[in-house]
Amino acid sequence: MSYCLRNSFLLLLVALSGLACKSPEAIKHEQYVIAGAELYAKHCSNCHGNEGQGLGKLYPPIKGSDFLENKNKVICIIKNGSNGTVVVNGVSYEGKMPKNKKLFDLDIAQITTFIYDKWSGEKITTQTEEVTRIKCD
Ligand code: HEC
Repeated sequence: MSYCLRNSFLLLLVALSGLACKSPEAIKHEQYVIAGAELYAKHCSNCHGNEGQGLGKLYPPIKGSDFLENKNKVICIIKNGSNGTVVVNGVSYEGKMPKNKKLFDLDIAQITTFIYDKWSGEKITTQTEEVTRIKCD
């Protein structure tokens, strides 16, 4: 399915599921979570696991990770990948996370929204403009 079609389809699904009395922000949030879950399953779960549990010393967990305390760093690592040392909950990971060139800023916003909604219960929607604007070093 094309990118645009897929998103229209998701919007339709959200609209049909009886969300008429929710605010536009809440509807957008739910749409991002649904799309983000799909993108996570496709692009991230191989390494980080379906439940964000990670894989031993190879891949750090996302669920319960203290790395999530800094959302800018999370957005940057999804944008650029990482090839250094990343410390999660006191454990050092020396692996390589490849940059994923297939992801648009909208995708990254949706994945970030999904991660925070699912694994830290945060209802703040990460906006595409935020992903575009952010400066990573
Ligand atoms: C090929 C395996 C691989 C894939 C695919 C991958 N990662 Fe990672 N990820 C890693 C590794 C390895 C690290 C640690 C990087 C380091 O040591 O420099 C990491 C680190 C992270 C971190 C910071 C540490 C933590 O766990 O809190 C986040 C957040 C993250 N990845 C999210 C994602 C997201 C979201 C995707 C999908 C868009 C993704 N990763 C895809 C391997 C992967």
